[in-house]
Amino acid sequence: MKTSTEPGHLHSVGVFVTELISNPRHVGAAIPSSKRLATRMASFVPAPFDGLVVELGAGTGVVTAALLKRGLSPQQLVAIERSPKLADLLQGRFPTLNIVQGDASFLGELVKRHQGKSRRIDVVVSGLPLRSLPSSTLKAIEAQLHEHMNADGCYIQFTYDVRRNIPSPFKHFVRCESSVVWLNVPPARVDVFRRKKN
Ligand SMILES: C[S@@+](CC[C@H](N)C(=O)[O-])C[C@H]1O[C@@H](n2cnc3c(N)ncnc32)[C@H](O)[C@@H]1O
Repeated sequence: MKTSTEPGHLHSVGVFVTELISNPRHVGAAIPSSKRLATRMASFVPAPFDGLVVELGAGTGVVTAALLKRGLSPQQLVAIERSPKLADLLQGRFPTLNIVQGDASFLGELVKRHQGKSRRIDVVVSGLPLRSLPSSTLKAIEAQLHEHMNADGCYIQFTYDVRRNIPSPFKHFVRCESSVVWLNVPPARVDVFRRKKN
């Protein structure tokens, strides 16, 4: 696994910043998440776990690495990234994973492409910049979550808004756990959402 002092790390950050300049609304962060934030996100995935986990907005792979370290196998982890350049970088960094380049608005199709058949998702771990994405994209992503996640599935998201009790980004999901990572630049909060019971 690469560490933050290796030349590969500098290359990853370079690609990330280039993507940020070309697509600021879609990248939504000045630098990749810290390992500390990535580890906190992964800690909300049960271990051991044999369900299907989807990572949305994998970026340079810091959360992907934490999820693999948590014990997920390459077959049960679907890492999705919209940017072709970041998806190529991820594929080079994680040769055992089948990285899926595509838009989270087409989640069901992307999971099917990875798994070879439609499968329901148990856990979503998201680095998507929900607050800067167009509202049409947000609506499309929520519709896909609603359609393709298991009823007792959970959705893990980080945000740079560390205030408690801000509204859920999705009307069908309620926050059930929350934890702030102060030692991230900037500080971030990890929220775990579950689907509302009907
Ligand atoms: C804030 S960065 C997070 C990257 C990484 N997970 C991290 O924590 O460092 C957001 C990532 O989401 C990707 N992204 C944005 N919109 C997306 C979408 N609709 N579908 C898939 N990925 C998307 C961006 O290209 C970017 O890599």
